[in-house]
Amino acid sequence: MSTEAGPSGPTPEQAAPQPPVVTATQPGQVPRATAPPATGEAVVNCIDLTLSFGTRAVLSDLQIPFAGGRVTAILGPTGSGKSTLLRTLNRLNDKVSGYGHQGDVLLDGSSIWGAHVELMALRRKVGMLFQRPNPFPMSIMDNVVAGVKAHKMAKGGELKEIAERRLREVGLWDAVSGRLKDSPFRLSGGQQQLLCLARTLAVDPDVLLLDEPTSSLDPMATESIEALVRTLVPDLTVIIVTHNLAQARRVSDSTVFLNKGRLVEHGDTQQIFEDPVQEETARYVTGRFG
Ligand SMILES: Nc1ncnc2c1ncn2[C@@H]1O[C@H](COP(=O)(O)OP(=O)(O)OP(=O)(O)O)[C@@H](O)[C@H]1O
Ligand SMILES: [Mg+2]
Repeated sequence: MSTEAGPSGPTPEQAAPQPPVVTATQPGQVPRATAPPATGEAVVNCIDLTLSFGTRAVLSDLQIPFAGGRVTAILGPTGSGKSTLLRTLNRLNDKVSGYGHQGDVLLDGSSIWGAHVELMALRRKVGMLFQRPNPFPMSIMDNVVAGVKAHKMAKGGELKEIAERRLREVGLWDAVSGRLKDSPFRLSGGQQQLLCLARTLAVDPDVLLLDEPTSSLDPMATESIEALVRTLVPDLTVIIVTHNLAQARRVSDSTVFLNKGRLVEHGDTQQIFEDPVQEETARYVTGRFG
């Protein structure tokens, strides 16, 4: 889906990079064998990243290469900084009072805070879907193409085509094709979330950030979003925050576990769930946390 991926799309290496297995090392603890870090293939790369509010660091010294063309789940107890990290990746926190960062986040190798980076362009490349659907107060059709218009990516009749294609992609077309001019606020919560996803996808992002996107949805709507997420890779790089362990297992290739202000473990999802290196991770993924 990236306009910069070239006509031939991602190489096999980009499409199926080996996930990193990065583990926290504590005094006296010998880490098990780890796979080579996936830095080369990382589309989003957190380097020595510390995030704080006021004098309090929420997350410290994160090294997280998010491999391109894969789904990475971020897990962690409430308050562990998952949303803060996700919102940092498209600079949504920049203007939040007290927020500060040290270290860097690289997107395709360049700092997201670089002097030349335009916020609008960054947010087109790195789209985000929130826990609660947030349709704009405009028609369903206008919602889908709002970003496309803002970025002047298409006009006139093309807009209708884009709206239909994106609404079909998220499975909403049949439900809304007869009422494209209606308000989105009469749609169900799940339909509103799918509409917001259509709007986010319409600007052709390279990276999709999902912050608990199904936590207010029923199992059917949840299943549609999960199924859709799997169809987005390897064209997109997806990072999903979830409290739903079964969902992380179903939908992600790699998993990051955050706790107490740090990265505890990052690895292949199957390894994290079936053979975690850290006892802390084992307790969390088996529901024995606390
Ligand atoms: N705007 C803010 N000002 C001050 N502190 C904040 C702000 N936003 C978040 N925090 C604090 O940062 C920490 C991490 O919050 P964050 O929302 O990132 O956690 P989370 O892992 O997403 O939690 P949850 O699972 O409940 O959504 C919390 O202690 C929170 O109180
Ligand atoms: Mg959160």
